[in-house]
Order: sequence, then structure tokens, then C-alpha cells
Amino acid sequence: MSITTDTKMIGKAPEFSALLRSLEVAAATDVTVMLQGESGTGKELLARFTHQQSKRKDLPFVAINCAALPEALAESELFGHRKGAFTGAIQQNTGRIQSAEGGTLFLDEVAEMPLTVQAKLLRFMESGEYQAVGDTTHKIANVRIITATHADLNSKVKAGEFRADLYYRLNVVPFHVPALRERTGDIKPLLNDMSGKLARQHQLTAPRYSKQCVKLLQTYDWPGNIRELRNFCERMLILFPATEIQVENLPLEIRNQASDNHFTFQLPDKGLKLDELEQDLLIQALRKTLGNQSRAAKMLGLTRDTFLYRLKKYSIVCS
Ligand SMILES: Nc1ncnc2c1ncn2[C@@H]1O[C@H](COP(=O)(O)OP(=O)(O)OP(=O)(O)O)[C@@H](O)[C@H]1O
Ligand SMILES: [Mg+2]
Repeated sequence: MSITTDTKMIGKAPEFSALLRSLEVAAATDVTVMLQGESGTGKELLARFTHQQSKRKDLPFVAINCAALPEALAESELFGHRKGAFTGAIQQNTGRIQSAEGGTLFLDEVAEMPLTVQAKLLRFMESGEYQAVGDTTHKIANVRIITATHADLNSKVKAGEFRADLYYRLNVVPFHVPALRERTGDIKPLLNDMSGKLARQHQLTAPRYSKQCVKLLQTYDWPGNIRELRNFCERMLILFPATEIQVENLPLEIRNQASDNHFTFQLPDKGLKLDELEQDLLIQALRKTLGNQSRAAKMLGLTRDTFLYRLKKYSIVCS
């Protein structure tokens, strides 16, 4: 169970700032929020942030990871159970819903919730009523629900693995949490903040990063997002305290990807159509930056004007 802690959100990239503003607006209401994003993008931190911006902030924030619960225990974890309700229930258990009374319940990895529990959660969301396992009476709780998922819930619904009615109930206000590669402007501030905190924790002096290093870190994909960046900072701190880190000190996966990105493009033996390749890259850059023309231009090493000129040349329209 998690308790409320102070939430310091690092990040000024436009995609991230817009998300924080929208979450602030949603937080002021009691609306059900769903955070969708890759693993390690900060969904739990954003859930805490939403709670802290809400009028429930002085009441509990309780988190439960649906992926970590064996099916047999999920219902009792959420709704509680009576003593003797099942073999092994040697004492009464307060469920997370009751622990979150008045506050916020964060259902992490909600896509993994067993179907039997989904039906009961839906009932709770519609009526505020629930039943502890082995109990014959109904209880009532006033809890705001925030969910997070990295899975495509819509396709889970289509595959019959997630109830459509619950999906619509949870997906009232969905938010896309950007991957770190979609907010490269935040890499440097995150790096500084995390290095500083970890240095204090380990009682070491944080390393500095050469300009070239920072550039490479900004082109790396970060499949594990902010969690991977944090682990990277810790590794660099332990290996190179109080030094200026150079490109050759960076882990191989980062250097390799950087060289893949920059230097090893191979012209196929049968050749290619340069115009088509250029159009494809322009479109890919726009997709990766969610249509942000300045950042798309930067990804291709172009000025915004040159980028716009090339879009026009191929009649590529930004939607
Ligand atoms: N904006 C941020 N500023 C500072 N630290 C952050 C930020 N976002 C995330 N972190 C840190 O990154 C790590 C991962 O964040 P979090 O656990 O919230 O991600 P998640 O999306 O819930 O991941 P998962 O999908 O794996 O559950 C945590 O250590 C968190 O404190
Ligand atoms: Mg999480």
C-alpha cells in the first residue's frame, strides 16, 4: 500500500506541461482519470500529483498494482474479506477501497485485473457499493478512481479480456503520458535532478556530463523511460563520481544506438528513391513528435523554415 508523499514533477517540455495543466483541471473535479503510457513514464507519480491537486489531498492515496495480484487474492485485496471467508483468511482484512475512504484509489496496470473483479469494480463505480469477500452486507465508500495502463485497453476489450462497460466507465478522461523520447527537452533537467538526489543518497559527488554526452542521451530511445534514466544516473554516479562523463564512458547500448542513428545508414545494393525516403522521414518525424513542427524539424537537423518548405514540396499536410 502506498501513502501520500510529496510529488516533485520535473519537466517543462510542452507535451508534458500540457499534460500537467490538463491533469490540474481534471483533479479539481472528481472525474475518473485514466493514464495511458509506456512503462516508466511516470504514471504513478502523475496519479499522486492528480490526488495532491484535488480536494481529497489530505485524505489517503492508496495504490494497488493489479498485475502483481494473484487472481485468487485480487478481490479480497480490493474489497477486503471477513475472517474465515476462505481457507487462510485467519483474520478480517480491510480492503484497499476502505483504506482509501474519502481519498483516491490508484489502480495501476488495470488491464491485468481479473474479469471477476472487473464486474465488482464496475458495480462499485456505479453505485459506490461493494461487498467484502464472505460478507453478506453491502458497504459504501467514497473513493475517486485513477487508473493506469501501458496496454492498449481497446484491443483487450475487442479480445474479450476486458469488460467494455468497465472500460467506458474508466476511460472518461484518458491522458497520454508521453514517452521520454517524445520529451527530449526534459532529459537534461531530469538528469541533473536525479543525479543530485542520488548523489546525496549515496554520499558521493554527482558526475557532470559533457555536451556531447547530453546530445547522445537526447537521441537515445529510452525504452524504459524515466525509470531507465534513473538507473542510468545511478550507474554513472557509482562508476564515475565527481568526474565529467565523456561519450566513451556511456553504456554500450546508448553509444551503439547513437551510432546506428547517425552513422551506419547503408544504401541498399538495389538503390533507393531519395524523394520517397525524404517524404517518409518527414512524416515519421511528424508522427514521433505528435505533429510538433519545430521538434520534427530538429529531429531531422533542419530549421523549421526548411522543414516547412519540404512539407510543402511534397504536399504533406499536418493534421
Ligand atoms: N516527471 C518526473 N520527475 C521526476 N521523476 C520522475 C518523473 N516521472 C517519473 N519519475 C520517476 O521515474 C520512476 C518511474 O515512475 P513511475 O513508477 O511513476 O512510472 P510508471 O509509468 O508508473 O511505470 P510502470 O508502468 O512501470 O508502472 C520513478 O522512480 C519516478 O519517481
Ligand atoms: Mg506504475
